Amino acid sequence: MTAEELFDKLKEVRISGGACAYTLEKCEAMMPLINAINALKKERNAVILAHSYVTPEILYGVADFTGDSYGLAKDATKTKAQTIVFASVRFMGETAKILNPEKQVLIPGTDTGCTLADAVTGPQVKNLRREFPDHTFVCYINTTADVKAECDVCVTSSNVYDIVEAIPNDKIFFLPDKLMGKNLREEMERRGVDKQIEIFDGVCYVHEQYDPEMIQFLRLKFPGVKVLSHPECSPGILHASDYAGSTSQMMDYVAKSKDSQFAVLTECGLSSRLQVEFPEKKIVGSCTMCRYMKSNSLEGILRVLLKPRPEDYVNLSDEVMQRARHCIDAMFTYTENKTAIPVRD
Ligand code: 13P
Ligand code: SF4
Repeated sequence: MTAEELFDKLKEVRISGGACAYTLEKCEAMMPLINAINALKKERNAVILAHSYVTPEILYGVADFTGDSYGLAKDATKTKAQTIVFASVRFMGETAKILNPEKQVLIPGTDTGCTLADAVTGPQVKNLRREFPDHTFVCYINTTADVKAECDVCVTSSNVYDIVEAIPNDKIFFLPDKLMGKNLREEMERRGVDKQIEIFDGVCYVHEQYDPEMIQFLRLKFPGVKVLSHPECSPGILHASDYAGSTSQMMDYVAKSKDSQFAVLTECGLSSRLQVEFPEKKIVGSCTMCRYMKSNSLEGILRVLLKPRPEDYVNLSDEVMQRARHCIDAMFTYTENKTAIPVRD
């Protein structure tokens, strides 16, 4: 790849009112790092998976797979490479490791937490299961491997409603996202599905910030704008939006839409991806950054490919991986085959 080719892709990126923009000079300055990473990938038999929230230079300069958490988890099952570098946050790296116990999984970020994944621990879920013995425990993919090991089925923002609807039990414990849990309750009610849903108390600090009044303002300022939001936002935001879905579902919505202006209430990485992939469409309003996702950098990727530190590896015990795998496989089985959710004995 040349600096000109990279600039040709990134020239449309204008997030935060143009504060994050790319010039040809900036692309030229990044090329030695990008070329070094792309050469090392081949040498080390490595692939780079990157969530849509990381920086455009990672997504368009070095990534082999990009997408939402469901798509990337599926991609992680397909690669033959011996090393997976996962530009995202730790829980996504853990998912890749659970699906590929024999591979090396490396996390290049410097702050790889997530306010949702950090909200609940495995021992807490164990206690909750004693308190709610009749409930099916459904965890959002934004959880640690220890938490997945204690749950029955994992979901992502792209399949949460369909999976919960398909669970034969009417008593559900959903964790850790309080706002997604409220959206889930509303959606089950809207579909006429009778479920009693207990909800944990976690939030995503990026998506909880949005206020429905902001949407009114956007509609006044940009008449005809289509407002898209993520199911981690509050029910008030989803009510005021035209569409809600995972990051990849929002991209599909824009791809298929005949409209020309969109406001996306999610992390800035998605706004920049939309600007790159659909230069003829206008992405308006501001976006919000996730400090964890944005702690991934080209320098970090080069470091983990060259000389990873012990903390850059994802290491999990065999027992946790086996138990957590059950929870992830239950999600794949339902999503791919639309068969009943195999619940833990
Ligand atoms: P997606 O699965 O929609 O990509 O969401 C992941 C995430 O962390 C959202 O904050
Ligand atoms: Fe976690 Fe929110 Fe960042 Fe997604 S955007 S990784 S849910 S803190």
